[in-house]
Amino acid sequence: MNPTGSFKVRGGLTLASRLDADERSAGLVTCSTGNHAQSIAFGARVAGTRAVIVMPACAPSVKVDAVRALGADVVIEGPTLAEASAHARHLAETSGMRFVNPGNDPAIIHGHATAYLELLQSNPGIDEIYVPIGSGSGAAGACLVRDAIAPHVRIIGVQAVGASAAYESWVGEAEVSREANTRVSGLATGCGFATPQSVLRGSRGTAGNVGLAAFELVPDDAIDDAAHLLATHAHLLAEGAGAASLAGLRARQERDGEAQGGSVAVVVTGGNVSTDEWKRLASR
Ligand SMILES: Cc1ncc(COP(=O)(O)O)c(C=O)c1O
Repeated sequence: MNPTGSFKVRGGLTLASRLDADERSAGLVTCSTGNHAQSIAFGARVAGTRAVIVMPACAPSVKVDAVRALGADVVIEGPTLAEASAHARHLAETSGMRFVNPGNDPAIIHGHATAYLELLQSNPGIDEIYVPIGSGSGAAGACLVRDAIAPHVRIIGVQAVGASAAYESWVGEAEVSREANTRVSGLATGCGFATPQSVLRGSRGTAGNVGLAAFELVPDDAIDDAAHLLATHAHLLAEGAGAASLAGLRARQERDGEAQGGSVAVVVTGGNVSTDEWKRLASR
């Protein structure tokens, strides 16, 4: 329900508001499967600068069209985000444009944190928050806000089981690359990102809820089920990445039972439903 249809616009706007004059005249270049792309395109437009967005061939056409409609230049490069990212970095090096790292830029994380600031300020009784994770920039924002104003709240990350780079990086204490084998475009991230991981890991072994409390890995079909439940019971249209948080909560309930107690928030992070997602929703 944010402009551009996902929470990611908060990161792009925050980054755009912090550009200096040189960066504004050089313009921005980044890579994304869609929602970060729209966020940077939107932020660049507000800041009056140019944006070039490198998108992989697997990016949903609805998101490619939206980025173009926001006035950004789209370059389609490579089958996955890894190739698109390499090309975006090359463009930045050869053109002087400012490369925006989709996961590691502190301004992006700070912008995403505003969603959790609003959530926890308006709902101080929350005990747990389920957050979908691709790069982890949104979940890192959630942890930063929690640490500052609501240290008792547990943040639980949710990732697609076929694209578990953030999970593996979190448990293994080092950033790793993994296959990104998921239908869920917002979660199709193939590597861990150091800056959000440093927040998500927290300082384990010390008292208090620092970093992520837990991680759930969910199959794509469970994410489809959650999107269907949101559509039919909450009248809320969620793309796969946006429904993953509910899929994570349901997975935990199926495993541990309903009796966890407490007040739980599931963050529905985006509603940019692809044609394939529409078809799967309608075919149930
Ligand atoms: C709708 C949606 N939710 C969640 C995510 C994952 O966010 P992050 O990359 O900050 O972990 C994305 C990433 O693109 C997204 O588009």
